[in-house]
Amino acid sequence: MKITKAVIPAAGLGTRFLPATKAVPKEMLPIVDTPTLQYIIEEAAKSGIEDILIITGRGKRAIEDHFDKSYELETELARAGKHDYIEGLEHISSLANIHYVRQKQALGLGHAILCAKSFVGNAPFAVLLGDDIVHSETPCLKQMIDVYDKYGSSVLGVQEVAREDISKYGIVDAVPVEKNIHRVQGMVEKPNPENAPSNIAVLGRYIITPEIFTLLENTKPGAGGEIQLTDALCALAGMQPVYSSIFDGKRYDVGSKIGFLQATVEYALRREDIGAQFKEYLKTVIGDTKC
Ligand code: UTP
Repeated sequence: MKITKAVIPAAGLGTRFLPATKAVPKEMLPIVDTPTLQYIIEEAAKSGIEDILIITGRGKRAIEDHFDKSYELETELARAGKHDYIEGLEHISSLANIHYVRQKQALGLGHAILCAKSFVGNAPFAVLLGDDIVHSETPCLKQMIDVYDKYGSSVLGVQEVAREDISKYGIVDAVPVEKNIHRVQGMVEKPNPENAPSNIAVLGRYIITPEIFTLLENTKPGAGGEIQLTDALCALAGMQPVYSSIFDGKRYDVGSKIGFLQATVEYALRREDIGAQFKEYLKTVIGDTKC
């Protein structure tokens, strides 16, 4: 079955980024000049996704405004002859059909995904976390859809992480199947490195079969009192094959301060318009002992 629907959970509180996220959704914080969420929706659109459901919450209305058409602004820009900017704005509102649902309380990622049940229906769907961006030649989600097309089962986007980072992620217990593909036998959320089944971490991209919804409905709150997607995926792996796919690309956790700064610097350096100038600037700053 073709994957045409994606869910982007973006209802989290963004506590790691307070006070910025008091009034601005963390998914709208810009990497250079583009909100994080726009990079994610561009990745989904380039991967063949047609319909996207964004899980929002209170205080997140800027998200809907950003992906809507902006008649007043476009009229002003046309009057001023700034046609390049108009093209940029039209691009945003034409990326995909975007739908919204509110998660009334931030009860965890699993609970956020459950809010997508009626949107998804009975077909496999993609999930892209609203604070994870991936820079890659082939869009990360497209790489995973290719794996789904081959195996016809749920696929988790993963990468190997350093031992000291294991406790930040959902870690899979998995056996190799072919290059970069493992069959998942279990998963543990944020384990101690000593007890971790591997160093293969789930990094914000998933293709999931619809059986997940019944499992989520029966998942009790786990770590942190939240309904954990990891627990339901673990149960899914006990019922039907679930694979993990090591994707190509550099992933940034822009919900953390350091990840946000890394993404900002590296995306700026890759830009044709400002990259060279920014690089020269960075060289002067690195050597400047007053900074
Ligand atoms: P995170 O755990 O990174 O987001 O969830 P958070 O809870 O906002 O982060 P902090 O720890 O408070 O800083 C990953 C993704 O899942 C969404 C978040 O918006 C983020 O995109 N999420 C998380 C929800 O939509 N609902 C939730 O209840 C929790």
